[in-house]
Amino acid sequence: MAILVLGGAGYIGSHTVCELIAAGRDVVVADNLLTGFREAVHPKARFYQVDIRNKAELDALFEQEKIEGVIHFAASSQVGESMSNPLKYYDNNLCGTTVLLRSMVEHGVDKIVFSSTAATYGEPERIPISEGDATVPTNCYGETKLAMEKLMSWTSRAHGLRYVALRYFNACGAHPDGHIGEAHNPETHLIPLILQVPNGQRAKISIFGEDYPTKDGTCVRDYIHVNDLAQAHILALDYLMQGGENNVFNLGNGVGFTVKEVIDVARKVTGHPIPAEICPRRAGDPAQLVASSEKARAVLGWKPQYADLETIVSTAWNWHKNHPNGY
Ligand code: UFG
Repeated sequence: MAILVLGGAGYIGSHTVCELIAAGRDVVVADNLLTGFREAVHPKARFYQVDIRNKAELDALFEQEKIEGVIHFAASSQVGESMSNPLKYYDNNLCGTTVLLRSMVEHGVDKIVFSSTAATYGEPERIPISEGDATVPTNCYGETKLAMEKLMSWTSRAHGLRYVALRYFNACGAHPDGHIGEAHNPETHLIPLILQVPNGQRAKISIFGEDYPTKDGTCVRDYIHVNDLAQAHILALDYLMQGGENNVFNLGNGVGFTVKEVIDVARKVTGHPIPAEICPRRAGDPAQLVASSEKARAVLGWKPQYADLETIVSTAWNWHKNHPNGY
């Protein structure tokens, strides 16, 4: 029996596939390659170029392979784009997941672990954020992810499917062996943008706002290494396979760093001065997002291995300096 990883050619998906294979699992990857990269897919995984909105293609895959559980990363994930093109986000994230669940139900596949996000909370009511806190998304991306969680819940009641939603905070870093890493086009995330400066691709990094109510005025985020996220997916799948009930988990280190602190760590790691410029706030950025991941630690036995930001940025730098243009 195999694990099906949808979106397994993307950033977090490709790292999870790599960890699944390292753990001796049989892995099938499906990806439409619109934002993912064929080169990112582990050679031991069986690859299908499939779009989750295409039911005939999905049905054919479920008929061809014996799938015991699904890990679902296949979604659009840019906050800014979700605000200018909400229909794309509802179509790909919500309609795509509806097609996927229908095909799973019809083929008797009843376990799914999927990517949710800290963006489901919106402006947090307290820090650190716990899973039971209010979910009031402030952008369309977070709204579609929250709707996906609810879609799973109702499908579970009707058809007995079980799910785990993993709400990531700020995914970052790259595989420590340097063969896969973060490659987005366009890139919007802080750490890869910072590293474009020492890579000679950008003159300076913009700091979006210095007037937030934080210790140095810049936004605080909880940065979590992509391999730690990968391990959480494997633990969540095993939890479902052992009969675990539907659940939602935050995934973060529980420690917040300001934008300026992240830039300072990157200066130390790269030895480059990395000039920075204060710019206006970016619309929709909460001042602070820090997770309580106590539940994932207690229920799943999850223990992040890359809690140190310097180590995280070092793995990212190892990837970006050797792959300045991605794959
Ligand atoms: N930032 C800058 N300059 C930049 C880029 C980012 O100052 O050039 C700041 C942002 O304003 C923010 C922080 O760096 O305060 C982190 O920004 P990212 O874009 O890297 O990440 P976000 O926190 O905005 O978003 C991440 C994920 C989203 C997810 C969100 C959940 O990328 O998918 O967390 O809150 F929705």
